[in-house]
Amino acid sequence: MSGKSHDLDGAYALRTPEDSVRYYGDWATSYDSDFAADMDYRSPDIVAGAFVSLGGAGPVLDVGAGTGLVAEALARRGIAPVDGIDISEKMLDIAAAKGVYRTVIQADLTRPLPIENSIYSGIISAGTFTHGHVGPAVFHELLRVAAPGAVFAVTVHSAVYEAGGFAARFAELGDRIEAFRTDPFKIYGPAAGSDHADDVGWIVSFRKA
Ligand SMILES: C[S@@+](CC[C@H](N)C(=O)[O-])C[C@H]1O[C@@H](n2cnc3c(N)ncnc32)[C@H](O)[C@@H]1O
Repeated sequence: MSGKSHDLDGAYALRTPEDSVRYYGDWATSYDSDFAADMDYRSPDIVAGAFVSLGGAGPVLDVGAGTGLVAEALARRGIAPVDGIDISEKMLDIAAAKGVYRTVIQADLTRPLPIENSIYSGIISAGTFTHGHVGPAVFHELLRVAAPGAVFAVTVHSAVYEAGGFAARFAELGDRIEAFRTDPFKIYGPAAGSDHADDVGWIVSFRKA
């Protein structure tokens, strides 16, 4: 543990959407400095780079947008517009204030999404498919809101990739997706310290067929 009131170990201990609303509501104002900067959190920048290298373009839906780090990384690469969806109103308040989202949507990703069919050319996500957060069932809804040919690039923590049912879910998608690939990456830089400096995730990417 870091000794901070909110940290990665506390986030990994979450179990329900209600846990996330409470925990991230309290963490929102210090998340960028106490977590992302202090831990050298790399996922938003890496997944944004992968999205662009795959030919991704707007409009993009950022899944579990949090304080907006992914949209900031996309903005640095000239990708717009970006909409963000998250269950935490407080995290979305921070994100919206950065001016990098066209709109932010407060919604629970474990339920049907309040979004029309086939409107996004890209789906991106960092840090949301991890211990105690959002499981793979949401890909049914994400495929619904994605246009044919849409680029998906999301991070999945290695600890939940098999154990949390992501590998099985992606296999089940079959011919609904094309160009599926997984690439490993290190989630944090050396500043994370010995407990997490070697944490690994997968960049999972594909196109909606
Ligand atoms: C580790 S943060 C990642 C935020 C941002 N993408 C980043 O990389 O900094 C995980 C986010 O998932 C959101 N989240 C957790 N469970 C959720 C759910 N059921 N529906 C929507 N968002 C959820 C949390 O509110 C939090 O903002």
